[in-house]
This record gives sequence, structure tokens and C-alpha cells, in this order.
Amino acid sequence: MVNSRIQFSETPLQGRPKQQRYGEDPVSVRDTNHYQEEYVQSFVEKWDELIDWNARAASEGQFFIHLLKGRAQKVLDVATGTGFHSVQLAKAGFDVTSSDGNADMLVRAFENGKKQGVLVRTVHADWRSLTKTIHGKYDAIICLGNSFTHLFDEIDRRRALAEFYAALKHDGMLILDQRNYDRILDEGFSSKHAYYYCGEDVRAEPEYIDDGLARFRYQFPDKSEFHLNMFPLRKDYMRQLIREAGFQSIHTYGDFVETHQEPAPDFFIHVAEKTVK
Ligand SMILES: C[S@@+](CC[C@H](N)C(=O)[O-])C[C@H]1O[C@@H](n2cnc3c(N)ncnc32)[C@H](O)[C@@H]1O
Repeated sequence: MVNSRIQFSETPLQGRPKQQRYGEDPVSVRDTNHYQEEYVQSFVEKWDELIDWNARAASEGQFFIHLLKGRAQKVLDVATGTGFHSVQLAKAGFDVTSSDGNADMLVRAFENGKKQGVLVRTVHADWRSLTKTIHGKYDAIICLGNSFTHLFDEIDRRRALAEFYAALKHDGMLILDQRNYDRILDEGFSSKHAYYYCGEDVRAEPEYIDDGLARFRYQFPDKSEFHLNMFPLRKDYMRQLIREAGFQSIHTYGDFVETHQEPAPDFFIHVAEKTVK
């Protein structure tokens, strides 16, 4: 086992919705709390088919390990999902704590870790009240897999970033990624489809877009279909929010390439430092 401790906070699985619920007018659902009703158990069970761990590991390579090595030991993965980055980083020797607001995701992450010999140390926490639940300070926080996009209100984004800032040591770093929504909003959707959603025969595409909503549809070979309603964050707006949360330097990469030159990557990765080096 790579991680030797486990801390399971309460994971109230009873009463969790079984099916996604968007009501009669799905594009009117623009609610930060709605992620709980989107990552229902049936979708959580499909998540690994969507992201395909092996293909994803090959596409990302050592990108995050290179960013963190020599800089961080204690890492908090605040959007653990089914555990992909937590498990990769624990295997690479980092001391990882894995949090998420969705209990079904954490259960899955724990099971996925077990299969790979990693004891995933889970904490059930919403970003907006993170420091109420997690203990201690971290060298690095990662918020990956286009997760921050679930926050619909600016006040929630600012609150979450303030919590991330507070949970970091004085010289800590935040790594947060997002889909390239600028391109989708300005030019329509096209994707090389080779990074996060690597699963074969899985389709992930936008069904509806406006300045306040990106509604994506995910279709699986067994014909099951799920949706996510997300806020289309523009890159410069996201950088500004990070800066206004107090981070002193922000470097933005594209598509996990350290010397990104491409004008239109699928994903941006922001690396923010609390103090200037
Ligand atoms: C798109 S998934 C990404 C999961 C994982 N990082 C990956 O790349 O596979 C987004 C994750 O963020 C979590 N999440 C969304 N909003 C949250 C919030 N306000 N607080 C805590 N977790 C949240 C969801 O439960 C979900 O597990």
C-alpha cells in the first residue's frame, strides 16, 4: 500500500439520487449545488469508462509530477472524482489527501485505489467550506478534470478560491484546469478528444451553449446517456479570479505541454503560486 492512513469522514450515501434530474427545462438548471444530482451513482460507475485511466495516463505523461516534484510533498486533491490523479500522485510518492463533495465519487476512488495498491485517504468536503473539514496546510492543491466549471455563481468561485488559498502553506501552489471554453463560445465546438475523455466509443459533446451555460452530453456504447450542466469559464476571467484571490503569479499551460504554443488547446492548466519565487 502506498498511503498508509485513511480518514473517512461521513459519507451519507442514503438518500442520494439514483438518476440525473434536470426537470422539464434542463437549460434553466444553472446551480452550483446541482453537481450532487449530476454525479449520481449510475454516472459515477461510468466515469472511468469515459476517462479511461490508461489512455489518460499516456496523454498526460509526467506533466503534473514534473510540476510538483521538488516543490510539494503534501498534496490535496480537491476534486478527486474516481481518484485518477490521487492514485497517480500517491504512486509517485506524494502524500495525498483526496477530497470531493460527492460521496459516491469518493467511494469509487477508494475502491479504485485499492485495486492499485493505494489506500486513498478520503475527506468528504465541499470546496466552499473546505477548511472546516480538512486539517493542516498543504504544499499543493490540485483541482483537475475541468471541475471548477461546476460553480455557477461568482461568489461561490471566489469563496472556493479563498478556501484553497487558506488551505495552502505560505509558499503553496494551486493547479487548476479548465476546458478551453473561449474556443467553444467563440468558434463552436471541436475537440481532439484525446485528453480527459479518452474512452473509446464514448461521445462527449456540447448540446447547448450560451454565456452562462455549457450543457454537455455523454453517450456510452451501451446507449446510456448522461449530461453535465457547467459554467463556461473564460480563460482570462479565470486567471483574474485566481489573482484576485491573492495568488501572486499564474502560469497557464495548454494541453499538458510545458512549452505550450498552440493557439487553441482543448484544456488550460493554471499553475498559481501564493508567493513569487
Ligand atoms: C468533472 S469531475 C472530475 C473528477 C476528477 N478530477 C477527474 O479528473 O476525473 C468533477 C468533480 O468535482 C466535484 N465537485 C464539483 N463541485 C464541487 C464542490 N462544490 N465541492 C467539492 N467537489 C465538487 C464533483 O463531485 C466531481 O467529482
